[in-house]
Amino acid sequence: MARLLEVQGVSKRFLGLLALRGVSLHVEEGEILAVIGPNGAGKSTLLNVISGLLRPDSGQILLLGQAIAHLPPETRTYLGLGRAFQIPSPFPELTVRENLLVGALFGRPGRPRKEAQAWVEEVLRLTGLEAKAELPAGELTLLEEKRPELARALATRPKVLLLDEVMAGLRPKEAREAVALIQGIRAQGVAILFIEHMMPVVRALADRVVVLDYGEVIAEGPYEKVAAEARVKEAYLGRRA
Ligand SMILES: Nc1ncnc2c1ncn2[C@@H]1O[C@H](COP(=O)(O)OP(=O)(O)OP(=O)(O)O)[C@@H](O)[C@H]1O
Ligand SMILES: [Mg+2]
Repeated sequence: MARLLEVQGVSKRFLGLLALRGVSLHVEEGEILAVIGPNGAGKSTLLNVISGLLRPDSGQILLLGQAIAHLPPETRTYLGLGRAFQIPSPFPELTVRENLLVGALFGRPGRPRKEAQAWVEEVLRLTGLEAKAELPAGELTLLEEKRPELARALATRPKVLLLDEVMAGLRPKEAREAVALIQGIRAQGVAILFIEHMMPVVRALADRVVVLDYGEVIAEGPYEKVAAEARVKEAYLGRRA
């Protein structure tokens, strides 16, 4: 299996706080990797470093073998890194379809308009958004915005998709729909790295799980294996106490 994304010994400090301590992980072709951990463990910081919103203080990030840690976020998008945010940020005046077209056209420069339009229709179908395609994105409720936010990330046609708690605030039935949606995205050949607090979702989706605690990887493996590890249980229980 080819390694699409590789994070090697990445550290990130915020003033006195070491938010990431030598984090290493990888995502293989076609794989769904979950990153879990207690609040403040460094999960979002890790995603920000991978997508280019933050520069790591040390360590390497490789996308298809190419070092990307020094590249701006747009360049990483062109190279095949897609990202959906915890709080969606569509262009409110544009319709859902137009928002996707922006992603499809600018996610990879030089893509023919026809091809971008065809991919947008495919994404609308895949994400179940056909009925909302003509609505201004600003008129959707926060819950309704989750699908377009996923679709927008998908419109750039990424090789690896980064998702930060896209299920937060969803009801159980909606979360099950979102699980099916993400499985559909993987079936399109997109590898996924996702952060999630809801354990049933992690269990249902992840091929492999990486557990972060205080900026460090403390466990890695299939869900059942890491969930049974004493260090993982302590991390969750200890933080709650
Ligand atoms: N820009 C920043 N400046 C200073 N400290 C920060 C910054 N971003 C995050 N931190 C701190 O770094 C640590 C890791 O934060 P991060 O947001 O990565 O955690 P997380 O695992 O995503 O948590 P949550 O589950 O609550 O989303 C926390 O202690 C947080 O307060
Ligand atoms: Mg977070």
